[in-house]
Amino acid sequence: MGKLDGKVAIITGSTSGMGRDTAYRFAEEGAKVVVTGRNEARAAAVVDKIKEAGGEATYVLADTSDLSSAKKIFDACMDAYGTVDILVNNAGQLSTTPFLELTLEEWTSVMNVNINMAILLGQMCARVMKEKGGGHIVNIGSVAGTSARWGATAYCTSKHAMNGLTAAMARELGPDIHVNGICPGAILTAMLESIGGEKAAEELGMTAMSPLKRVGRGSEIASTVLFLATDESSYIDGQMIRVDGGVDA
Ligand SMILES: NC(=O)c1ccc[n+]([C@@H]2O[C@H](COP(=O)([O-])OP(=O)(O)OC[C@H]3O[C@@H](n4cnc5c(N)ncnc54)[C@H](OP(=O)(O)O)[C@@H]3O)[C@@H](O)[C@H]2O)c1
Repeated sequence: MGKLDGKVAIITGSTSGMGRDTAYRFAEEGAKVVVTGRNEARAAAVVDKIKEAGGEATYVLADTSDLSSAKKIFDACMDAYGTVDILVNNAGQLSTTPFLELTLEEWTSVMNVNINMAILLGQMCARVMKEKGGGHIVNIGSVAGTSARWGATAYCTSKHAMNGLTAAMARELGPDIHVNGICPGAILTAMLESIGGEKAAEELGMTAMSPLKRVGRGSEIASTVLFLATDESSYIDGQMIRVDGGVDA
């Protein structure tokens, strides 16, 4: 028996990286998974792999910098499975643009992808979860949301906002809906590769600061998302769990 048998999960940004690893992990545990992203080939490949392994998944293509995507994603989930039990707000846009060079356009895009979409999808899914008397929402923040040390203005601000959103949602949506989040450290995904991969983590001091002396894997985030999406974390609420190899230990 899987830990998520009979559950329906939306995982934003699940065509790549830790979202994709979470989609695989959830499907292995019996969840029906709604995969989202912009890249159709990668979305289809994730769904195919889940189905080949005997799981159930569907995908919806949506650019989450466009806020109308929230309804598109929610409607695709309702059309496919008729309900939602778990929402993982994972899609993220990295921005390393310095404050003085940041345009309103880039700021808006980062805020839409990283925080505004989590609010809109959170509202839509929470209404369904309230009605059915339970649900789990997991928000993916960042260690850049706990200090300005690593992130540039837009990314750092959006991830700080995720902490407040998670706490506020938990307070307002309890007791039936659990809301928690994760602050990943340096995790070897396409996002980290885009700024230089493991070398960048070393240059930023993240590897040296970690007692584990390495970057993390997407699967190590996926296992924590799974924990926060089940009753195994039943007395944890409104928290951002650092999964960062102990960089601030
Ligand atoms: N990797 C790290 O070191 C690290 C550290 C801390 C926090 N995080 C956070 O972890 C989350 C996942 O990142 P990752 O490292 O797994 O990165 P990733 O491999 O680059 O995956 C990012 C995912 O987000 C989706 N996405 C990005 N922009 C989108 C947009 N405008 N519309 C729709 N989907 C979009 C991508 O889908 P498409 O490409 O198909 O559009 C992809 O599925 C993000 O919230 C990120 O900020 C990552």
